[in-house]
Amino acid sequence: MLRHFLQFKDLSRDELLYLFERTRVIKTRFKRYQPYHPLTDRTLAMIFEKSSTRTRLSFEAGMHQLGGSAIYLNTRDTQLGRGEPVEDAGEVISRMVDIVMIRTFEQDIIERFAAHSRVPVINGLTNEYHPCQILADIFTFIEQRGSMKGKTVAWIGDSNNMCNTWLQAAEVLDFNVHVSTPPGYEVEPERAGLYGTDHFESFADPMDACRGADLVTTDVWTSMGWEAENDERLKDFADWQVDAEMMGVAKPDAVFMHCLPAHRGEEVTAEVIDGPQSVVWDEAENRLHVQKALMEFLLLGKLES
Ligand code: CP
Ligand code: NVA
Repeated sequence: MLRHFLQFKDLSRDELLYLFERTRVIKTRFKRYQPYHPLTDRTLAMIFEKSSTRTRLSFEAGMHQLGGSAIYLNTRDTQLGRGEPVEDAGEVISRMVDIVMIRTFEQDIIERFAAHSRVPVINGLTNEYHPCQILADIFTFIEQRGSMKGKTVAWIGDSNNMCNTWLQAAEVLDFNVHVSTPPGYEVEPERAGLYGTDHFESFADPMDACRGADLVTTDVWTSMGWEAENDERLKDFADWQVDAEMMGVAKPDAVFMHCLPAHRGEEVTAEVIDGPQSVVWDEAENRLHVQKALMEFLLLGKLES
């Protein structure tokens, strides 16, 4: 059966646990320089309508390391940027490659592409979601601290694609998210694709959201696509900077995460992101390993470890 990964809840809890276990196996082999080429002769098309460092590099290197190859396409040099319908692009591109990753604007664009695709489609970030990043974040937490079940994540800042995806993940994997956003930037549960509100709680004061948290995380105040609001956002978010005081009220062994790129002095202080509780470099590296496991799963199904 054709499977896509367009939002976090496209995978069940069991499939996610399988994926994290495969990630561990694939990462260990990679670190030992043991070649592993289950995707020989498979091709990944990567379509970017927004900028990227980590997503492009991790998918391209990951596909190469699994024995396949990757092709980078962007809106500027393809017919997608000149108005070719996304449905037609889905029909054509999916006849030429084995798997597709897309970074674009509205979630609707990737949904329409996938509806016309013969091959698996992966969300490499949309305005609404960033599911590959949350796979890496949760795998990183598991590596550092064990299962996420019952844990508390403090989300400080904008209720953006990262926040929405944390909230979806909380429902699937049964943990809690404490969200603190400035007024006017609150979570929209429908846009976040939530079933209910059992797994998240909103806090007016970011200090209260961080209190007792196992993981504190934030993201840029201005996501790609919202640049016109930058000046206003700098003012509105000024009190939502993750600093040592916020980390101080979280659990003593709490970790700090950020999907990167980061703006030191805006959403996080240098002291926190470069400090001992920060796991941002492991978090970034783990994009490579989780996405290799994801592509393996979408193309080959469940394998014996
Ligand atoms: N975190 C993340 O997706 O980074 P890029 O924008 O560099 O891909
Ligand atoms: N929320 C950010 C994440 C970048 C990886 C954005 O969408 O720009």
